[in-house]
Amino acid sequence: MQFEEKDISYPPVHPGTDRTFIRFYSGCPDLNSIYYNEDSQNQPKRIFVTDTNVASIPAIKPFIENFRAENYAIPKIQAGLIAKRGKDVLLVIGSGETFKTIESVLSICKAAIDSNAERSAIFVGIGGGVITDLTAFAASIFKRGARCELIPTTLLSIVDAAIGGKTGCDFDDYKNMIGSFFPAQKIHIIPSFIQSLPQNEYRSGLAEVVKTAMLYSSPLFEKLCANPKILTERNSSLVEEMIKICVNAKAKVVEQDLTEKNIRMHLNLGHTFGHALESRAGLGVITHGDAVAWGIVRAAELSNRLGICNHDYLEKVRNAISLFGWETSAIHPVLKGKFANDDDLAHSLLDAMKKDKKNSSSKIKFVLQSDIENTLVTEVEDKNILEVLK
Ligand code: GLY
Repeated sequence: MQFEEKDISYPPVHPGTDRTFIRFYSGCPDLNSIYYNEDSQNQPKRIFVTDTNVASIPAIKPFIENFRAENYAIPKIQAGLIAKRGKDVLLVIGSGETFKTIESVLSICKAAIDSNAERSAIFVGIGGGVITDLTAFAASIFKRGARCELIPTTLLSIVDAAIGGKTGCDFDDYKNMIGSFFPAQKIHIIPSFIQSLPQNEYRSGLAEVVKTAMLYSSPLFEKLCANPKILTERNSSLVEEMIKICVNAKAKVVEQDLTEKNIRMHLNLGHTFGHALESRAGLGVITHGDAVAWGIVRAAELSNRLGICNHDYLEKVRNAISLFGWETSAIHPVLKGKFANDDDLAHSLLDAMKKDKKNSSSKIKFVLQSDIENTLVTEVEDKNILEVLK
């Protein structure tokens, strides 16, 4: 076949998404003073997005109450609520993974369209990973790319989900199947939010902290292991310190590999096993972090069996995970009684992993460690995977 080829090149798409300012706050800053100060008259329109849970928490409520729904102060926080404050708009959507849908993304776009937002509008997501992912996705497709700022409110979204420009929603039973890379222009980190999180949500985020420490900070890992009370007491200076270390570590990774071509994959340590457990346990039965913590031990077992890490490192990982009360045995209690035997259970988890990775080659890729801060990605034979699942 003969052809002539001409190539044309472009400046980067979406100016403004080429850098992110991450602001670390101390104390309990009022969101009103972040967004409504002497400069707010000159700001573009803001589309604030949050969920029913977050809108009701004491640190956020004073901000929400300044909006008006149809000329009345907000009487009741409910999903679908749209309220206004000057030219700005607030949209409250339902809380939880079941709302991580394309319909929610479209409802954010509709709130923006109905308020005559321009491409210069700023979409501000205030909430956990579901809200930050949905809001940033809506910003990325609204008029082919508006602007985005995030205020993550859970430990998991502060140290992981909100950092690094991954946006999206679930689709057709697959998590995060639709989405884009669209970094926020600003991320506001407010560690004091952590103090009022429900314990299961806090513990879920702590698993991502432990994961990040294993990947990038041996000193943080040792410190957490020496202070297991961080699970129950939430010492605010240690919470602030761990948040800063994790955010900075992730920022460094995504700066080098925003679109997950190489080192960003390491952030999935424990996630291949963890996602399979989440899927087989059923939606909402186990938190993401509890599943990832269990997955981290399975990954260490696999690494040891493949001769990648020694027994001492495997034991170190196992001890750290059990120190925080996470499950370390091959058969997780949430799956007990769900399968005829252990062999069926292991095969079902393997099937879930294959489904999760349905577009890659037949062998499943794992993030494994030879030691702390020593990470690699490798394909593994099914038989080796099955061995660490029973
Ligand atoms: N949560 C993993 C990543 O952001 O790449």
